Amino acid sequence: MAEPMLEVRGISAAYGHIRALAGVSLTVPQGGIVALLGSNGAGKTTTLNVVSRLVRPTAGEVKFEGAPVQGLSSDAIVARGLVQVPEGREVFREMSVRENLLMGAYLRRGRSAIDEDLARIGRLFPRLQERMSQRAATLSGGEQQMLAIGRAMMARPKMILFDEPSMGLSPVLVDQIFDIIGRLNRDEGITVLLVEQNAKLALAMSSYAYILENGEIVLEGESSRLACDPAVRQAYLGA
Ligand SMILES: Nc1ncnc2c1ncn2[C@@H]1O[C@H](COP(=O)(O)OP(=O)(O)O)[C@@H](O)[C@H]1O
Ligand SMILES: [Mg+2]
Repeated sequence: MAEPMLEVRGISAAYGHIRALAGVSLTVPQGGIVALLGSNGAGKTTTLNVVSRLVRPTAGEVKFEGAPVQGLSSDAIVARGLVQVPEGREVFREMSVRENLLMGAYLRRGRSAIDEDLARIGRLFPRLQERMSQRAATLSGGEQQMLAIGRAMMARPKMILFDEPSMGLSPVLVDQIFDIIGRLNRDEGITVLLVEQNAKLALAMSSYAYILENGEIVLEGESSRLACDPAVRQAYLGA
């Protein structure tokens, strides 16, 4: 197995009196795709936000490339190469596609390299290339998801945390987005932690998966094995 790129050890988190996570541990190997599955409210977004330092854990530790992230700002995490594509995309609606993409490079210096990356994202996402000057609010849901991914790419990440990229998209667009995620992993070597409610697709795309329920990991294993597990099939695959 490859070196771990991300190690989450026993993290707990709460919002006031509401316990959101209780001792969550997971590992993502370098170059891998790992899925984190679970129904609404299970704690998936909170887990990603703890990794990105947007939520402070009450216990536990997160290591990225072997170094603890404790004490780092969210910006410092991005600068290290760990970027989140947030749930619901959160594009800057009043800005153009180009401006949104440039926001992804806000920590970088060197205009020519940034322009090169802008051109590269355009080649990766022809739909965005055609719409560089268009206001993000006028994009379709799928195009906004592509924009959110393109914006993350502009930070030159080593690893991307995807928070329910399929949410609200038609099946055709979901296929396109998953195809893009697969290409980023294969062709660009980006390590992926994929949070999804769409267990079927996420298990097909990942090599290893964790299932979160009420803030705890209740099951983990090779994705191909989980996809055949009767309990998983009944609870998460509707079969
Ligand atoms: N900002 C918040 N304030 C209070 N409770 C929250 C907040 N965000 C999430 N929660 C609660 O924490 C739990 C986990 O939420 P979340 O991590 O968003 O789950 P998921 O992403 O799996 O749907 C839920 O009970 C949710 O209601
Ligand atoms: Mg969520």
